[in-house]
Amino acid sequence: MAISFKDKVAVVTGAGAGLGRSHAIYLASRGAKVVVNDLGGSLDGVGGSNLPAKQVAEEILAIGGQAVPNFDSVATPETAQNIIRTALDNFGTVDILICNAGIIRDKTFWKMGLDDFDLVLKVHLMGTVYCTRAALPVMRDKKYGRIVMTTSASGLFGNFGQTNYAAAKMGIIGFMNSLKIEGQKYNILINAIAPLAATRFGEPSGIFHEEVKPYIRPELVTAMVAYLCSSQCQITGDILSAGGGRFSRVQIVEGEGIRFDAKHEVTPEMIHEYLPRILDMKKSVGFFSITDAINKSLGPLMEDRGKSGAE
Ligand code: NAI
Repeated sequence: MAISFKDKVAVVTGAGAGLGRSHAIYLASRGAKVVVNDLGGSLDGVGGSNLPAKQVAEEILAIGGQAVPNFDSVATPETAQNIIRTALDNFGTVDILICNAGIIRDKTFWKMGLDDFDLVLKVHLMGTVYCTRAALPVMRDKKYGRIVMTTSASGLFGNFGQTNYAAAKMGIIGFMNSLKIEGQKYNILINAIAPLAATRFGEPSGIFHEEVKPYIRPELVTAMVAYLCSSQCQITGDILSAGGGRFSRVQIVEGEGIRFDAKHEVTPEMIHEYLPRILDMKKSVGFFSITDAINKSLGPLMEDRGKSGAE
């Protein structure tokens, strides 16, 4: 069945360029009414301009779609509220939120000013929090919402010179992991995309060579984002990696581990001896929530207590 966004209202943050632009245009091409948000600053978050958001909104209108630009920053509660209000004022509701806006301020941690740390956290993590907070009451009332948050392999796996960015991107995962549980009964499904695409983000590192750029187009990431925004999507709390035509799931998992007898002392020497088994990930599993994780950890202990008749 074809996926359509007819009668759906989408807010895409940081949609004036790169991935956000691609998401906004694609959703609009499939019928969504789109708020094209972009502050229009530099890659390191300085300045601002109305031009990028305006241009993308015009591109959408030119293909017969519906869009309205918004130039607010995601990084304060008030301006994030304005972004969502733009959707409500122009289109009456919000069904889809794509938190995509971002900046980078790369430096090794010992050379990084704490202001660089703060700002990156503000834009990525708090920007996602503020926009979600503003959109959530509308979604809860209508019992429908699709939210896509943007994480990064830098946070999931680590990257030199990106402690601030990695912390923010992993913070988004923690935020999603808990919010997905709260959103579920209202049919608000929340997933995270870990994209890879040739945009200005790759310029400082020069990571994307000219010859590979055609194969790492933002549109290839958008296919997954659009699916996650659709009513067909029924998954929540997943992290999907997308780039260069490859799509995969990233998951936080726990190894099988080892269980010592809890009635007796456990020493660091025992940890040393059994470390290979503790670190072994062959039988690792993921959990939907802390409840599942605790059941796995403590379940057998509770059973034992039950059998022995202990209090
Ligand atoms: P980009 O720089 O082309 O797009 C980011 C957009 O966000 C820009 O247009 C910028 O003006 C806007 N923006 C920045 N601060 C803002 C604020 N406070 N309020 C509103 N808009 C703001 O870069 P790209 O690559 O499209 O990045 C999009 C997202 O994807 C970011 O969250 C980034 O961290 C993430 N990402 C990108 C990867 C890639 O390979 N390009 C890899 C991993 C994550």
